[in-house]
Amino acid sequence: MGRKKTKVLMLFSSPYNHPRGYEYKEEFADPDNMYTENDVYRALQANGYQVSLLGIHNNLELLMEEVREDRPDVIFNLMEVFNSSSYYEKNITAFIEMLGIPYTGATSDNIMISNNKGLGRKLFSFHRIKVPRFQVFYRKHKVWLPKRIKLPLIVKPLCEEASRGISQSSIVDSEEGLLERVSFIHDNMNMDAIAEEFLDGRELYVTVIGNKQLIVLPPRELKFGKLPDDSRIATYKAKWDDKYREKWGIKSVAAGKLADSVVIEINDVCKRAYRAMNMDSYIRFDIRLTTRGRVYIIEPNANPCIAKVDEVAQAALKKDISYNQLIDKIVRLALQRGAKGLK
Ligand SMILES: Nc1ncnc2c1ncn2[C@@H]1O[C@H](COP(=O)(O)OP(=O)(O)O)[C@@H](O)[C@H]1O
Ligand SMILES: [Mg+2]
Repeated sequence: MGRKKTKVLMLFSSPYNHPRGYEYKEEFADPDNMYTENDVYRALQANGYQVSLLGIHNNLELLMEEVREDRPDVIFNLMEVFNSSSYYEKNITAFIEMLGIPYTGATSDNIMISNNKGLGRKLFSFHRIKVPRFQVFYRKHKVWLPKRIKLPLIVKPLCEEASRGISQSSIVDSEEGLLERVSFIHDNMNMDAIAEEFLDGRELYVTVIGNKQLIVLPPRELKFGKLPDDSRIATYKAKWDDKYREKWGIKSVAAGKLADSVVIEINDVCKRAYRAMNMDSYIRFDIRLTTRGRVYIIEPNANPCIAKVDEVAQAALKKDISYNQLIDKIVRLALQRGAKGLK
């Protein structure tokens, strides 16, 4: 008799509450739609796991039922939104924790720190990890330009991701510009805002994997092509609009030459940031390497995108970790960590 297969429940966000057992064949086959789920699903199968699929829109009953009737050994957590809101990403993970089943990726604590740009920066400053000087502006409170912060600034929603709310107008060079952009975020997006010093320099993405023993993968770099010097940021368009990327020659690649001392600093900063967050599993840091060669963390990305085309998987390949191996590693780290919670 062969070894009993490890049961993996792949849990992901779905625009609909399909019944349990729904196979998502059409959705996964669409290269513009659920390609991450498709990639991970195939990799899990190739690794010999017994995989069930569960997409959730806003019905947690489905997850409770699944766990009751076909309890998995581990949950592969690809949930990013619940009821179309990324605010609940941490809540969903907290819910999984309460089920007492091991799961992949960041804990609810990690996600809370990662998804609030103010919180992450406060934590990193305490640990003397360099972050840009910043000020948080909550809705219905006074907005002003603090003296200690130097223009130009970049103004962002406090708790968003994927560069939603970030365009060229996010860079401001005056107090009026700051006020205007903050009120756009408060009033039009209905979100709190953060303003921070604009750091000129190269944009790097660095993945760290591991529970105790950490692997820092080779940096990826976003090349800004022909974009002018004062507009070199990963706006929503620069990330997601293929035509715009092509027009300006924006692309993400393995990072070009970095001085040995910079590589050492990147590794050190990323490991310290990982431990400061009490991370395990995997994370991707967005980094700016300033024109003076200093390494700043722009933001941690707990549960970053892990389709084959994304930075994490591309960086892994550069270190001779195939996609299937990467997904297997993530499952093993989850099993090694075990269920979260008080013991
Ligand atoms: N302080 C900063 N200095 C320079 N560029 C920044 C700064 N903060 C953000 N950016 C640019 O904006 C992009 C998106 O910001 P980020 O904080 O990573 O938000 P998101 O969570 O939407 O990815 C970054 O990838 C970077 O290009
Ligand atoms: Mg980012």
